Amino acid sequence: MPESILNLLTSCDAFVSGQEISTRLGVTRAAVWKKISGLRQKGFVIEAVPSKGYRLIRAPDLAADYLLPRVKGALWKDILVRDTVDSTNDLAISLAAKEGITPGTVIIADRQKSGKGRLGRRWESPGGKNIYMSMVIRPELAPRDVTMLTVLAAVAGARTIQKTGNIPVTIKWPNDLMLADKKLGGILTEVRADPDRINLAVIGIGINVNMRPADFPEELRNIATSVRSGAGHAVARNDIIIELLRELEHWYGILTKEGKKPLLHAWRKDSSTLGRKVRIAIGNTTMSGIAEDIDDNGMLQLKMHSGELRNISAGDITFLR
Ligand code: BTN
Repeated sequence: MPESILNLLTSCDAFVSGQEISTRLGVTRAAVWKKISGLRQKGFVIEAVPSKGYRLIRAPDLAADYLLPRVKGALWKDILVRDTVDSTNDLAISLAAKEGITPGTVIIADRQKSGKGRLGRRWESPGGKNIYMSMVIRPELAPRDVTMLTVLAAVAGARTIQKTGNIPVTIKWPNDLMLADKKLGGILTEVRADPDRINLAVIGIGINVNMRPADFPEELRNIATSVRSGAGHAVARNDIIIELLRELEHWYGILTKEGKKPLLHAWRKDSSTLGRKVRIAIGNTTMSGIAEDIDDNGMLQLKMHSGELRNISAGDITFLR
């Protein structure tokens, strides 16, 4: 029932009378009051004015009850919010293996104890500040096209933060979300696939939302940033998550209906990598040249000094002047 009261309260900005709620939900006024108290205990700020009724002022910063009805659309079926997990990607994968998980499930955590970054690195995941979120989907894509999911998440992530934070976020190949030359978010996609079909994909996104510079460990302070630092004020995690899930559904629809072209076009538009002189570290080897383009598989085309084009699937880029 709290979901239903919430739906009523979130569907309009005005007051909803206790009588209307009790009639629409078929419960007593006393039951309405009890449920309102329950929501308040969960962190919802609800104004109550005699003779007017109830009005939702603010939702807690991460609340599944609040998020799902606001996302709308058809792709996302369920949102699970957890306080602390090892890694939202790992939880998604283990839930999928143990109990099966509905494609379209989103797992969000306030804190990760062992957040995973690309190339086996750690993703700094303190509580109360950022977004750590994994989406489970069963995409209608050939396994060779799986990198498109990361391209999709990068475009959706960049567009979301551009809108919600009003800041010029760009994408650094392959999937870093950047503000100027500092990293603000990253994507880690993991898949279970047979040779001819993807059974399950977990798209993990981490976004530094309300971190202040001092909240980052010393070694990250010069290379990491947050939406808050860019926008100049704190931004509600709920708002970013809602917009991100909508953007992801939008681009997923485009990818499945129109193919890769529009998505790659959007990636190129938001890229801060193309046309730049770069050095790429791939394991123990490094290569340098001009980042010419990305191909239809999301590989970076590096134009070497010799003029030769090399397609690169993974690596760490440093911009050269
Ligand atoms: C990167 O190195 O750029 C990728 C970072 C991905 C971090 C996110 S946070 C949510 C999800 N769970 C994880 O353990 N990692 C991803």
